[in-house]
Amino acid sequence: MKKRVLTGVTTTGIPHLGNYVGAIRPAIAASRQPDSESFFFLADYHGIIKCHDPEQIHASTLAVAATWLACGLDPEQVTFYRQSDIPEILELNWILTCTCAKGLMNRAHAYKAAVQENTDKGIDDPDHGIEMGLYCYPVLMAADILMFNAHDVPVGRDQVQHLEMTRDIAGRFNHRFRELFVLPEAVVGEEAILTGLDGRKMSKSYGNTIPLFETEKKLQKSVNKIVTNLKEPGEPKTPDESPLFEIYQAFADEAAVAEFTAQLADGLAWGEAKKIVAQTINAELAPLRERYNELIAAPEKIEAILQAGASKARAEARLLLDQVRDALGVRRLG
Ligand code: ADP
Ligand code: TRP
Repeated sequence: MKKRVLTGVTTTGIPHLGNYVGAIRPAIAASRQPDSESFFFLADYHGIIKCHDPEQIHASTLAVAATWLACGLDPEQVTFYRQSDIPEILELNWILTCTCAKGLMNRAHAYKAAVQENTDKGIDDPDHGIEMGLYCYPVLMAADILMFNAHDVPVGRDQVQHLEMTRDIAGRFNHRFRELFVLPEAVVGEEAILTGLDGRKMSKSYGNTIPLFETEKKLQKSVNKIVTNLKEPGEPKTPDESPLFEIYQAFADEAAVAEFTAQLADGLAWGEAKKIVAQTINAELAPLRERYNELIAAPEKIEAILQAGASKARAEARLLLDQVRDALGVRRLG
């Protein structure tokens, strides 16, 4: 049996260089391995937990779908779908809610951080303003994963706890009813974490990102904003003096990186270095950007791809959900 790899992307933002280097590029490369079977989906029902702007959810769903397709995801080879198109996931979500310990959710990082924020603000009710969606976020994620009995789940480091919770929930169900669920593993990639324009991790939450498919001109402008120091042209510079280097490294081969390091040591001006970096990123992204723009202009084509993906995914989900319901005693009377 092939190894099942599944991952979801929350539809609340527009993909940035960090997402590309850390998640999209490696996931698409992995999906081309013959010994694995990949499931990729747009987690729009996770998106609505934090984002209450309908236009943003909608625009992000389109942008994320177009990005994955433009970057080479082959919907014939993988199962590519939108979470909200698979009602079986929501059905499983409830079933798992009934096998998930409440105490487990009390320990979830996102919930604890929200409680901490209330405490820090001196608000009496620790649960002030916290909705059940945030509290139950890990159960929906468990349903996403267990619905397809994925073995490997590539995620960022911040999601590892959710995978532990998924295993816990699955184990409890298997023990109480029937061994139906695979216990999945989190796979945290070795990829570099890109730094954003302000020196912190590049993240949509910090508003310090370089959008993946902005125009070539804007890309150069964004790269120009990456922090450097006050060293003049001609002064020797080292790779650790600016995040520019690590971004370059994510797009250049070893020989080019060695050459760039030597040029910096020789006193390359930061302005010149930024031109080299932007050109190198652009060389990789330009053909993808063209495809992205074509896709964005034809949302009905993306919709058709997602609908085809949903049919594939639902057929698969149904088989397991029927077994799960049977195990619970939720079945026809005759
Ligand atoms: P953001 O921090 O912008 O909200 P997400 O948390 O949605 O990004 O991350 C989606 C995926 O992109 C995850 O797999 C995460 O590890 C990866 N990722 C996000 N930011 C970076 C970064 N700065 N460098 C490398 N990978 C990143
Ligand atoms: N919570 C994940 C994130 O914010 C997105 C996600 C939702 C996901 N469901 C998933 C990732 C299932 C992997 C598997 O990054």
